Amino acid sequence: MTGRLFLLTVQFAMILSGCEMDLSKENRLSTSKFGEMPDGRDITKYTITNKSGSSIEVINLGGIIVSINLPDLKGNMGDIVLGYDNVTQYLQESPYMGAIVGRYANRIANGKFSIDNEEYTLAQNNAPNALHGGLEGFDKKVWSASPFETNENAGVILSLISEDGDQEYPGSLKVEVTYTFDDQNQLTVDYKATTDKSTVINISQHSYFNLNGHNSGQIGDHEMMINANHYTPINDTLIPTGEIARVENTPMDFRKAKPINEDINTDFKQLEYGLGYDHNWVLNQDEFSQAAKVYAPKSGRIMEIYTDQPGIQFYSGNFIDGMSYGKDNFAYPKRGGFCLETQHFPDSPNHKNFSSTLLIPSETFESKTVFKFSVRQ
Ligand code: BGC
Repeated sequence: MTGRLFLLTVQFAMILSGCEMDLSKENRLSTSKFGEMPDGRDITKYTITNKSGSSIEVINLGGIIVSINLPDLKGNMGDIVLGYDNVTQYLQESPYMGAIVGRYANRIANGKFSIDNEEYTLAQNNAPNALHGGLEGFDKKVWSASPFETNENAGVILSLISEDGDQEYPGSLKVEVTYTFDDQNQLTVDYKATTDKSTVINISQHSYFNLNGHNSGQIGDHEMMINANHYTPINDTLIPTGEIARVENTPMDFRKAKPINEDINTDFKQLEYGLGYDHNWVLNQDEFSQAAKVYAPKSGRIMEIYTDQPGIQFYSGNFIDGMSYGKDNFAYPKRGGFCLETQHFPDSPNHKNFSSTLLIPSETFESKTVFKFSVRQ
């Protein structure tokens, strides 16, 4: 039974029995077993369904969002994030699909940074650089999960202690990520972290979106707007050069919505380095505001992103190669999904002109990103 039909049935039954209509928290949240870690630990899936029958599914491995199901312009439900059906693929072949990435999302040059003159060396898991927190980043950890339900929304609080020295980062870091899905088809991601020793932090959500459906092919026709006058150019290993460059008169200009494909094949060194878009945009506002908006004309689905972070990584899925079979046994093609990762700038610890990613023991890192979904008829 669809969510809407279920609600109508409940409402009808209530009228018949003379009850007051109470569309409260029951039925928003369900749990089931998703799989097992190689050491036997259970991985649980949390399904959060709202009043209109839209849903998100999250697992406690990596805080991974395994599905987001939303109506298209005809009212048909579709799953708009790429992913897998099992733990093994998420551990072995996933390019961070749907995961929370940290401690440091994106790259740190040569895996090296210093705090108070002490140098730290991370694994160069994306040679010669460190990428997304290392060999066993947040995406591969089993998080503690506590689900919650209210009358307006439901969600899961995921928490993790990353011990001092985990993946060579200093400080014991306590992390909390809360996913909340409400009746307005808004997914809110709240991040919180504290440390007992100075460290660096940059944490993000790494979903690959295809608003026409995860198994519908390429995302080139999606119309993208990024609220940024500047971006951070990269070198040939995808590390920012330190320059803050204007987007004006370049293929990096998304101030007015345009199809992702429109300029992606332009002869432009930056696109050559990334094999397409794989860059950090410097958001125009550094308080909570709209960072990006994406519209998929075929399905009518719209995604808007709001954040308090200073940057957003737009990655056009250039390294997906059709070799990985995901959900529904679908082979994801190159550019079969895109990521919009709210973040601090890549390699910030090595750039004095980028806003600081240092977290000290007396402070709490807090951040919020909202993904707002709708349809245009
Ligand atoms: C990075 C890409 C990388 C991808 C998957 C993105 O956040 O910007 O360069 O290939 O993650 O690892």
